[in-house]
Amino acid sequence: MAITDELARLRREIEQHNYNYYILDKPTVSDAEYDRLFDRLLEIEKEYPQLVTPDSPSQRIGAAPSEKFEPARHRVQMLSLQKVTTAEEFADFDRRVKEGLGLQPTADVEYTFEPKLDGLAVELVYENGVLAVGSTRGDGLVGENITPNLKTIRSIPLRLSEKTAKIYPLLEIRGEVILRKSDFRRLNDQQEELGLEPFANPRNAAAGSVHQLDSRITVSRPLVFYAYGVSDQELPGLETHLAVMNLLETERFLVNEHLHPARGAAEVEKRFHTLADIRAKLDYEIDGTVIKVNSLRDQIRLGQVSRAPRWAVAWKFAAETAETVLEDVIFSVGRTGVITPVAALRPVRVAGVEVKRASLHNEDELIAKDVRIGDTVIIRRAGDVIPEVVGVVMERRTGKEKPVAFPVNCPSCGRPITRPPGEAAYRCINPSCPAQIVERIFHFAGKGGMDIEGLGGKLALQLAENKLLESPADIYFLTKDDLLPLELMADKRAQNLLDAIAKSKDRPLANIIYALGIPGIGETAAALLAERFGTIDRLMAVTEDDLNNIGGIGPILAESIIAFFADPQNRRMIARMKDGGVKFTPFQSNRREVAAIAGKTFVITGTLSKPRDHFKKLIETAGGKVSSAVSKKADYLLCGESPGSKLDDANRLGVSVLDEAGFLKLLK
Ligand code: IVH
Repeated sequence: MAITDELARLRREIEQHNYNYYILDKPTVSDAEYDRLFDRLLEIEKEYPQLVTPDSPSQRIGAAPSEKFEPARHRVQMLSLQKVTTAEEFADFDRRVKEGLGLQPTADVEYTFEPKLDGLAVELVYENGVLAVGSTRGDGLVGENITPNLKTIRSIPLRLSEKTAKIYPLLEIRGEVILRKSDFRRLNDQQEELGLEPFANPRNAAAGSVHQLDSRITVSRPLVFYAYGVSDQELPGLETHLAVMNLLETERFLVNEHLHPARGAAEVEKRFHTLADIRAKLDYEIDGTVIKVNSLRDQIRLGQVSRAPRWAVAWKFAAETAETVLEDVIFSVGRTGVITPVAALRPVRVAGVEVKRASLHNEDELIAKDVRIGDTVIIRRAGDVIPEVVGVVMERRTGKEKPVAFPVNCPSCGRPITRPPGEAAYRCINPSCPAQIVERIFHFAGKGGMDIEGLGGKLALQLAENKLLESPADIYFLTKDDLLPLELMADKRAQNLLDAIAKSKDRPLANIIYALGIPGIGETAAALLAERFGTIDRLMAVTEDDLNNIGGIGPILAESIIAFFADPQNRRMIARMKDGGVKFTPFQSNRREVAAIAGKTFVITGTLSKPRDHFKKLIETAGGKVSSAVSKKADYLLCGESPGSKLDDANRLGVSVLDEAGFLKLLK
């Protein structure tokens, strides 16, 4: 196959898999197979750099860090929205629209209704169908050029269909970059474990990720782009906002599933309440809804006032904040020794849920907010994100409030705590600190880790207090005699626990890696590492370079992994797990390896009974590789009828030649 054809095919296939995964949420390929396609793409592009195109999926893995962002002028201003918060205010807006369009007061305007996503507005400029520039909103006229960062986002197509590119040689698409709540929680757990400042909310995390001068950091953040419009209101063949969104959906953009037409103010109001009801269940944050006049002609007729259109409005939700009294500040010690101040509050209902605890994040936040015990504080609970203390109601201060002293010693073990330079968090660095041991054991035995049923936080605490466990690996040396003297431990319970421990020795590598508790490594990253390195020994020997080549592992995580395996105590823990019988079974991909073919390189030539792609797939699923040219590195030439010069090359280089029957025999 000509190299350009192979490239085109690879790019098509990879983007199809991206689309299935990121837009349709229906993966159609194993990670291993995806990686193989990607590696092959990179291999070819390395050999033929002149063939790299701006829409190649290889452009998604991040570019070299830049010094600063260049300004990007928006051809059409990016507007903001007028806001309303009540049904009466919306009715006023509706009245103004009808007046502007010369309609009867009783008429129903055809609106569209959609969530107002709480993220970061960006514009994507497609020139002749290819994504040329991506920028932030900025002041609406000039934003920042963040093209390489936006290209890392898999839900942003790098190219439009040929048909659309022809009709609209210039298409500017606008939308919101967000981070899902679930991904935000994972990211913040990771930040906290790494001693880095947690992000205040998903919006800040998304904005921070998009503003990285080093797009390799952006690529490690699972950002998502939702399209919500285009810059032009006059586009051939498009008469309504819904038609525009329909086009964007067929062009493979993510369009919000709660976009609906809505006839008149009554339907808008109904939809507003329905969306408010399910708001907490959505996996992304919304701070309200956006209502737009559906007809683009009517939009043009209505025009704009200063920087907001007259044809659209944001109907925002009431705030999710409440006031209560800060009764105490507790300092909790995490698995990695990070010390987090937690507010103990007089119970208060916020957005329908009773809140007693809220995060104060770290010392800097405590100081910046000047929080004192006895203060009346404002609590915010957005969706199901952990509640936080937003600030103090200073007018309510009496003078009797007590300042919060950050401890100098670990609240668990009493040893002095330190704040490493550049980190936001204090840490207890005593490896035998009981609180840390308990948290480590709890994490180790948890569902995503070794999954040892019956080993919860309470038992972990007892085991640590009785000095039965210092390291999670000690679990594998527990005996019934150790367990029976413990409180509430009958023979049956002890036996169940020992059985669960024995069973955990067979856990897959990905879960073991997660269980180790490498700071910042959650379940997704652990699975990625298992797949990429295959065995624990290979992972323990990995270099920063190896890690930097993996999408999804940013430089900070890479550093954390290296540091973890460099620590003799961690190496001892792994050795002790091995001694205790943990099998560390190498990662098994879901592809079927055929011994005779796995790891071998094939070249295909001549006419076979089926298209070459068919044989290529057979070879690849059996773990082999297909190369386009015969070289000394090739192991076999699969040779059909009327072969060309490749057969001569193979004979000259001593590469084994197989006919189709011979190949099929090998495959069996
Ligand atoms: S339409 C003229 N639709 O809200 C129309 N904006 O104040 C302008 N936003 O920063 C935007 N979700 O990023 C529109 N579904 C949505 C939106 C949305 C969020 C943001 C947008 C902008 C702000 C407008």
